[in-house]
Amino acid sequence: MTKQLRAAGIWGTGSAVPERILTNADLEKMVDTSDEWITTRTGIKERRIADEGQATSDLAAAAGRRALDAAGVAPEELDLIIVATVTPDMMFPATACLVQMKLGAINAATFDLSAGCSGFVYALDVAARCVASGGYDRVLVIGAEVLSRITDWTDRSTCVLFGDGAGAAVVGPVSEGRGLLSSDLGAEGAQGHLLTLPAGGSLLPASLETVQERKHYICMQGNDVFKFAVRIMEETTLKSLQKCGLGPKDIDVYIPHQANIRIIDAAIKRLGIPREKVLINVQWYGNTSAASVPIALNEAQAAGMIKDDDVVVLVGFGAGLTWASAVLRWGR
Ligand SMILES: CC(C)(COP(=O)(O)OP(=O)(O)OC[C@H]1O[C@@H](n2cnc3c(N)ncnc32)[C@H](O)[C@@H]1OP(=O)(O)O)[C@@H](O)C(=O)NCCC(=O)NCCS
Repeated sequence: MTKQLRAAGIWGTGSAVPERILTNADLEKMVDTSDEWITTRTGIKERRIADEGQATSDLAAAAGRRALDAAGVAPEELDLIIVATVTPDMMFPATACLVQMKLGAINAATFDLSAGCSGFVYALDVAARCVASGGYDRVLVIGAEVLSRITDWTDRSTCVLFGDGAGAAVVGPVSEGRGLLSSDLGAEGAQGHLLTLPAGGSLLPASLETVQERKHYICMQGNDVFKFAVRIMEETTLKSLQKCGLGPKDIDVYIPHQANIRIIDAAIKRLGIPREKVLINVQWYGNTSAASVPIALNEAQAAGMIKDDDVVVLVGFGAGLTWASAVLRWGR
């Protein structure tokens, strides 16, 4: 990082997914699709679906609690909570405020961050810079989504892709040389129309018409997003590595956004990263948007893939269109 006052990195991670599983076989009964099509085109076998009444803040608080335990931090020691999400519990208050209440993190400032599936990496970058500046000491960063509520279950081209879940990380000061080494965030706002939830905001407020026209659901031009994703994963990975004087060969663990196995495979092939260094769990959860990278990071840690001083690279891309990558040297 440029002009860094102190090193900032991840102290602990956690994740939480709903218990209910929706398989490709279940989807075959809902829309005109097949396990074969979904598996070969996306790599997804199943996804988790939140129970009725289970909101984004519930999954976020559960993941947050686990990250706090892993980091050895009490809720009241937090001074900031950032929740990255495109499925907040409601328009306002921010989901981060609801999480603060659920955790009892009474001393934490709170805000939500909206950067689509890049949200967690965006928020991690913001959190690390807040800590590096000396302004904050313990920040809880959460990516959480209940995408099943904004999925059009009659649209086979999108409903097979998404799932619900949450992942979290506690960010704090770490020893010199560790933590966030560099990052690259960006957006192509002109491509925003490729992936939207059209209604319910100030442009197109909710009305009988917007409901009838199914404008409160994810609307995506999948092919164009696919091409963007493969290009940007390569570009942003190289850019953030280059900023800290590293290259793809230095990567020990690569944690990409889990949208589609074909996107991941195409990108790691271009970058020359062997698959054994890549955490892939898209088959179990589908695309959980902002939750995908932190769930994968937590699973990589739980599986013993990450050792102290490893170079860990996180990459997200999504609605905006946005992208974000971060290079970390692991350990406190
Ligand atoms: C959505 C995605 C899987 C579609 O795969 P694709 O290979 O591009 O497939 P296409 O959209 O070209 O569709 C091919 C055919 O399959 C059909 N199809 C689409 N969804 C289907 C489904 N679930 N089951 C069966 N057939 C399906 C289409 O109707 C089309 O049929 P046609 O040729 O008769 O018109 C792919 O484009 C993708 O993953 N895009 C990126 C999405 C993404 O990651 N979004 C989130 C970013 S964070």
